[in-house]
Amino acid sequence: MKLLFIGDIMGAPGREIVKQYLPLLKRKYQPTFIVANGENAAHGRGITEKIAKELFDSGVHAITLGNHTWDQREIFDFLDDEPRMIRPANFPEGAPGKGITYIKQGEGELAVINLQGRTFLPPLDCPFQKADELVEQARKRTKLIFVDFHAEATSEKQALAWYLDGRVSAVVGTHTHVQTADERILPQGTGFLCDVGMCGPSHGILGMERQAVIGKFLSQLPARFEVATGPAELHAVVITFDKSTGNAKKMERVRIDSDHLFME
Ligand code: FE2
Repeated sequence: MKLLFIGDIMGAPGREIVKQYLPLLKRKYQPTFIVANGENAAHGRGITEKIAKELFDSGVHAITLGNHTWDQREIFDFLDDEPRMIRPANFPEGAPGKGITYIKQGEGELAVINLQGRTFLPPLDCPFQKADELVEQARKRTKLIFVDFHAEATSEKQALAWYLDGRVSAVVGTHTHVQTADERILPQGTGFLCDVGMCGPSHGILGMERQAVIGKFLSQLPARFEVATGPAELHAVVITFDKSTGNAKKMERVRIDSDHLFME
């Protein structure tokens, strides 16, 4: 059983490159489950119902979110009604939506958990304690458990992965938009990748137009960022699970850009 997890989809360029390569990735890796982080899919800020539907129609089984979850007003109207789309579970009690969902495919069922870090990000509830609660809940249903940890700090991501080692199938980071090269399987069987990277413009800064970002660093004044144009890249990871134990057997990073062409 395999999971294809697609990194933060950044605006129209990100959606386009996913549309272009998803059929090829499906053919090459034959994933059982497909999950994507969609928190930047609507022009870099949140996600709309229409975009979510397009992603589901293209074969994505579940969408995770992050600190931009609430950027599009309409999310409040449909998050509660769309169980396939989850937001970080450690938002305070009472927030719309949920932080866990289950994907059933044939014999296998994958629990997908979304959590958000608190280092250099708003002070949500404790992601470690929330993980304890949700993992216990998920393990009653399935051994296959995937965690998207939307966090900034590499230390916090490593800490959560080690904390959950042997209790979940994999912990993969999102949010920084920069793919790390540290994929590994921890001693108790949990696969880990600090950050999967993003799907979006290669010549921007984290996918945003460079001029405004550089200008903000120079001036220290508020600036409005727009999603960059030009060539795009796709970052993802393919995780192979041992169905009987729920452990990760293999972690393969996927990187497609003008320097790393897709190979069948
Ligand atoms: Fe983010």
